Amino acid sequence: MSVTENQKSKWKPSRLFQTLAYFRVIPFVGSVKWLQKLFGEKTLLPADTSEVVLVVGANGGVGKRIVPRLLKRGYQVRCLVRDAKKAEKVLGKNVAIVTADITKPETLTPEIFKDVSKIICCTGTRVQPVEGDSPNREKYYQGIKFFMPEVVEEPQLVEYEGMKNLVAAAKPQLQPSNNKILFDFKNPTQDLKETWGALDDVVMGGVSESSIDITDSGAVFSGNVSTENSGGFVSVRTRNFDPPMNLLGSAGIELRVKGDGKRYKFFLRCEDKWDGVGYSYSFDTVYNIWITIRIPFKDLIPVFRAKVVENAQPFNPSQIYSYQLMLSKFEYNRELNPRFAPGFFQLEVEYVKIYGSDQLPKFVLVSSAGVTRPGRPGLNLDEQPPAVKFNDQLKGILNWKFKGEEVVRSSGIPYTVIRPCGMTEQPGGQALIFDQGDNIKGIVSRDDIAELCVKVLEENLACNKTFEVKGDKDNQATAENLQQLFNALGPDGKKSPLTV
Ligand SMILES: NC(=O)c1ccc[n+]([C@@H]2O[C@H](COP(=O)([O-])OP(=O)(O)OC[C@H]3O[C@@H](n4cnc5c(N)ncnc54)[C@H](OP(=O)(O)O)[C@@H]3O)[C@@H](O)[C@H]2O)c1
Repeated sequence: MSVTENQKSKWKPSRLFQTLAYFRVIPFVGSVKWLQKLFGEKTLLPADTSEVVLVVGANGGVGKRIVPRLLKRGYQVRCLVRDAKKAEKVLGKNVAIVTADITKPETLTPEIFKDVSKIICCTGTRVQPVEGDSPNREKYYQGIKFFMPEVVEEPQLVEYEGMKNLVAAAKPQLQPSNNKILFDFKNPTQDLKETWGALDDVVMGGVSESSIDITDSGAVFSGNVSTENSGGFVSVRTRNFDPPMNLLGSAGIELRVKGDGKRYKFFLRCEDKWDGVGYSYSFDTVYNIWITIRIPFKDLIPVFRAKVVENAQPFNPSQIYSYQLMLSKFEYNRELNPRFAPGFFQLEVEYVKIYGSDQLPKFVLVSSAGVTRPGRPGLNLDEQPPAVKFNDQLKGILNWKFKGEEVVRSSGIPYTVIRPCGMTEQPGGQALIFDQGDNIKGIVSRDDIAELCVKVLEENLACNKTFEVKGDKDNQATAENLQQLFNALGPDGKKSPLTV
């Protein structure tokens, strides 16, 4: 944006240089980390927000597929197995292994659960063909050709007693947690004061001017916004965190603010570029009244200089480099902010928190379709999958699985119970079909179940829900398909059979 001769008197290069010096950047080029290093400045360290997920039954067909997916997503992972040697072969040497047997409560020590904030449990009674199986359990795993099955362990012990032991041991650690404050402006540290700085349209040739004043009574973002010189925005932004903050496991950001009735924007950035895509949310303030704003991560809009970026990467909560509050003349795509007025503005901020860890599942149980079918009146067993048909020979495995589910549902821990239909070793990537009411039959890839387990950790619509799932052989998985399925899930307690 050019600055014409008669406008130059208003535009102050000194303010541009102050901004650049503060953020250690050259606009449109990027951050200049070497400058920071040269002057021996410390980099800003994020608050400790990383999450430890415990995978119980990590050596199993589903468990071993969940572990790499969690790691890729940015979680810290701890694998609970019965056999550590087997785990080295199945999971490799670079994962954290703990050894325990859920049927033996004395093995479920507090160290196993230390710092754990989520559990995915995919244990199961060992089932095999009556004629036996190979050491790699190829017959059990393939899931397409039928073999007469038998249980090799007591289902009551693994599915029910084991679940009681696991839930009892995990519960103290999975209690609803206080939402963590990221920026506590009423108790500001020196670090906090040095983290936020003004970033106004002066970087584009404008003349607006803002500041953030942080005292014991909170932060005050105020100044004068002007549309002269094609300007029209003021903002305060944090310097980049290094390493970035990991907010996985939270549903969103909560702000406590008192404003002037204007509409502001809040931004998060998932890359360390100065001028890259920001994930934005607009919120209205109420004149002179303290209000709490919740910004769900899923409602963030990817924008580049106020234009919506259609094919942006999805918002990645595991990698937050910076935060920004803005007052802008523009809403999105050149639309005007309907509550904008040039001149003085003021927004007081008490805190910036993460919220919602209690609205997301903390305990994901991989159970099975069919758990409520044994003994159901009118059921034609000949049309049922083998686990239902042979439930009695399998020592009531499905009844014990259902009792295990009930332990989880009544625990008070936010949960999701996933009930897969017959699982196969076929590659994943199919669209899924969810159902509630325990009626569907079909097959589903273990890859897709593992993927689903990881997805539900970040899906509040899956919290405190039980549902069956099978693959849709005619369609490929898409994010939209999955979102529709989550949207349509009914709460537990009210049966809402559904096939999308
Ligand atoms: N097969 C199907 O078609 C199907 C369909 C729907 C649902 N399911 C259910 O889905 C779940 C996952 O299936 P999967 O195929 O991944 O099963 P899997 O390969 O047999 O894995 C089960 C895992 O649980 C572990 N485990 C068993 N008892 C344990 C105990 N007492 N303490 C600690 N760990 C224990 C096993 O450990 P080890 O490695 O030491 O044996 C194994 O790693 C199971 O509950 C299964 O019943 C299966």
